[in-house]
Amino acid sequence: MSAETHILAIDSEQKTRSLTKRYLKSVGYFCDTVASASQALDLLGENNYDLVLTDVKMTHENSISLLNELGKSHPNLAVIIMTSAKDTDLAMECLEIGAYDYVFKPFKKDALNIVVQRALNRRHLLSERRAYRLELEKKVHARTMEVVRAYHEIENTYQQTLEALVSALDFREQSTAGHSKRAVDYSRLLAIELGFRGDRLVPITRGALLHDVGKIGISDSILLKPGQLTKREWKVMKMHPIYGYQMLKDIRFLQPSLDIILHHHERYDGNGYPNGLAKLEIPIGARIFAVIDAFDAITSHRVYRAAKDFEKAYDILKENAGTQFDPHAVDAFLQIPKERLQKIFQNSLIHDDKKGESPEVGSAK
Ligand SMILES: [Fe+2]
Repeated sequence: MSAETHILAIDSEQKTRSLTKRYLKSVGYFCDTVASASQALDLLGENNYDLVLTDVKMTHENSISLLNELGKSHPNLAVIIMTSAKDTDLAMECLEIGAYDYVFKPFKKDALNIVVQRALNRRHLLSERRAYRLELEKKVHARTMEVVRAYHEIENTYQQTLEALVSALDFREQSTAGHSKRAVDYSRLLAIELGFRGDRLVPITRGALLHDVGKIGISDSILLKPGQLTKREWKVMKMHPIYGYQMLKDIRFLQPSLDIILHHHERYDGNGYPNGLAKLEIPIGARIFAVIDAFDAITSHRVYRAAKDFEKAYDILKENAGTQFDPHAVDAFLQIPKERLQKIFQNSLIHDDKKGESPEVGSAK
């Protein structure tokens, strides 16, 4: 260790500096000496030292300030205090703020060598421990990144699986995925308008995507019937929110979205289904989605009627605010710049042929 060890000694007395340098060189250390803390800081800025020996009581400078400065700028440096017997209190204070050890002046060569070796050994141990901790932190960070990546991959796989499930349903209705995609994008915009951010948007968009998944449980003769549904058929059709809820209720990551799936046909005035909830009894996600579902139904092409333009859809939503829809959600929807809705609409490649279970407004059934 000694052949490559560089030591800087600080003392205002020439005699002490010379003696220190001679002693340290004789046991194989490289040693520079300076008379003041400010000179020491200059040298430390330009060179790599392993250890600093400093007088505890410098003429115009404070060893406490020097130690504090070294603690910040050179945290790996070992510092030994050179002190006289009458300055032991100050030396103790230096130990408390980071000095490794102290040696009494005047010192003998062996005494100095023992203190220096002990400090260098301790520095070596601390340095190894620090390197080990840094290595450990790097490994933990790398593993955390792996877990995060794996989590995102799983999440993407979930999302793709859900989208495939919904596409299958849309195709069964001789439609395309356009309605679902628009429903997700419109719902996100409305939720943001209502103050939802970050993770709180996820249940809304997933619920919008999966809202009609329960239609898988409705027979073709009803779901694909070209004409009006009978009273009995309507009764069956109205089961789809419950079927969707039952299908997904045990999937933990979808539980926050179940409100939309189960309650997206509730009405603000309490005349909806399946539970006849009214006003704030209806979960907020379902109140948001009811507006979106109707807006998309009104502005989309149906085999039995042409799509209406956005202005007409706005009028219908306003007319039914407070009866079918949460008026607060309608107000928020009307605040969304029309161009943003149009962009979503235009980007959607699909003309949805969703059947007449759609909300009352916008539906021919
Ligand atoms: Fe529905």
